[in-house]
Amino acid sequence: MTTPIFPLHRRAVLAGLGAVSLAAASGCAPAAVQMPAPKSRQFPKDFIWGAASAAYQIEGALDADGRGESVWDVFAHIDGKIVDHSLPAIACDSYRRYAEDAALLSGASLKNYRFSIAWPRVQPTGAGAANEKGLDYYSRLADALLAQGVTPWATLFHWDLPQALQANGGWGNRDIAERFADYAGVIAAKLGDRVKNFIVLNEAAVHAVLGHVTGEHAPGLKDAGLLGRVIHHENLAQGRAIQALRAARNDLRIGTTLALMPARAEGGVAAFANRPAAEGFDALWNGAFLDPLLRGAYPEGALATIGAALQADDLAITKQPVDFIGVNYYSPAYIKLDLSSPSRIAAGAPPADTPRDAFGREIDPSGLYEMLERLRTQYENPLVYITENGCSDPFSNGPAVIEDGFRIDYLRKHLEAVRSAMEAGGRIGGYFHWSLIDNWEWALGFTSKFGLVGMNRDTGLRTPKASYAWMKALAESGLLDTAA
Ligand code: FCB
Repeated sequence: MTTPIFPLHRRAVLAGLGAVSLAAASGCAPAAVQMPAPKSRQFPKDFIWGAASAAYQIEGALDADGRGESVWDVFAHIDGKIVDHSLPAIACDSYRRYAEDAALLSGASLKNYRFSIAWPRVQPTGAGAANEKGLDYYSRLADALLAQGVTPWATLFHWDLPQALQANGGWGNRDIAERFADYAGVIAAKLGDRVKNFIVLNEAAVHAVLGHVTGEHAPGLKDAGLLGRVIHHENLAQGRAIQALRAARNDLRIGTTLALMPARAEGGVAAFANRPAAEGFDALWNGAFLDPLLRGAYPEGALATIGAALQADDLAITKQPVDFIGVNYYSPAYIKLDLSSPSRIAAGAPPADTPRDAFGREIDPSGLYEMLERLRTQYENPLVYITENGCSDPFSNGPAVIEDGFRIDYLRKHLEAVRSAMEAGGRIGGYFHWSLIDNWEWALGFTSKFGLVGMNRDTGLRTPKASYAWMKALAESGLLDTAA
C-alpha cells in the first residue's frame, strides 16, 4: 500500500460521495457509537409532532395555474430514470386534496406539517414577477392547515428547480444565489403573515451529489467537476435567502434541513485504512454544509473540492443566524478505502448482523444519536427538529402494507435515540415523520412507500395504516411505548 491517499484530491472524495447510494443499499449496521438507553420515555409537553412532504412528490397538477417546468419534469421523462416508469402527474393529488391532508394531520393529532413550495409554481421561469395563481395554492394550503390547528412549516427548495434556471447553469451558476433570495422574498411577502416557520433547503448534500455527480436525481448530471460549485452555491443561496426572509419580516423562525449521515469506516482488518476515507467523505457530506452555516468556514477536507467557487466575503453570507437546524436521518454511510478505484474510496459494508428496512437502508438509530450529539458538542447545541425520519414498505407496485408493525418498530427505536440525545443535553424540539401519505419517491417512483397513510393510486383514497394510530397516541400523550 504505497499510494498516498491523503490529502484527498477532489476525485477521491467525489467517488466516495458517488457511492453513497450504494452504501445505503448495501446492508446492515450496528452502532459505532455507544448510545445509552433512555431513562425516561416521556417527551416534554412542548415537544412538537408532525409529518413531512415535498411538493413534487404529492401535488400532481403539474400544468395547473401557470406552473413552469421543473428539472424533475424533464428528468422523469428520460427513459430508465424512474424504476417503474411512473410520473407524478397526479401523485397524491394534494394540489386539490390538500384539505383532506390537513384533516388527516389533525386526525392524528399531528399539529405540524412540513411541506415544500414548488419554485416553478411561484416563478415559472425562476425569476421575475410572481405567478399569483401558483402562490395562491400555498395560501389555501396554509389556511386549511391553520383551520385544522396545524402549524405550517414551509421548505423553500425541495429539489424542483425551474428548468429555465437549469438551462442557465442551475446550481452550478453563482447567479442562483440571487434568484433564490428573490424567490424567498416573494414567499415571505405573500405567506409570511401565516407561515412563520421556514426551512430554506432540503438535504443540499443529496441534491448536490445525486443530482450532479451520480445522475440518479434531476437534473441528472454526472459531472464530478461540478460538485464544489454546486455545494458552495447552495450554501451561498441559503445565506442570501435567509437574509431576504429576515429583511421581509422580523417574526419568522428560519432554519434549514440537512441529511446528516455519520460516515463510518468499514470494519475488519483494514479498518485503520478505511478511517481516513470515511473522514474525507464526512467533510463533504456533513461538514461542507454544517460549517459554512454555523461556523463561517469550510472544513479542511472540503476546501480542495470547493476550490475556486469560494470568493472573498462569501463565508460572511453563508454564516447566518438560524433559529433551528432540521435533521433528516435514515441511516449511516459505510465507507472503505479502495485501491482499485482511482478515488481510493468506495462504499463499504456495514457489520453483518444489523437489520435493514425494505428500502435497503440499515436500521441504525445510533447514527441519529451520534449526529445529534455532534450538533450538541461541536456546534454549540443548536435547537434541532427532526424534519424527516421513517422507513419504506417493501418495494412493490401493489397496495400499501396497512398493518405496518415494522414501521412502528423503526419509529420507536429512532425516537428512543431522540430521547437519549435529549437526556444527554441536546435541544431537540420536535419530530416530523416522513411521510404523511405514500407518495412518488423520486427515482423509485411509486414502488417505495413511506406514509403513515396509504393511497389508492386510481382513486386517491387515503387509508390510515397502523402507524397512523400509533403516532396519534404518541402525539397525544408524548409517551413512547415499549415494544410488545
Ligand atoms: C429524503 C428526501 C425525501 C424522501 C425521503 C425518503 O432524502 O428528502 O424527499 O425522498 O428521503
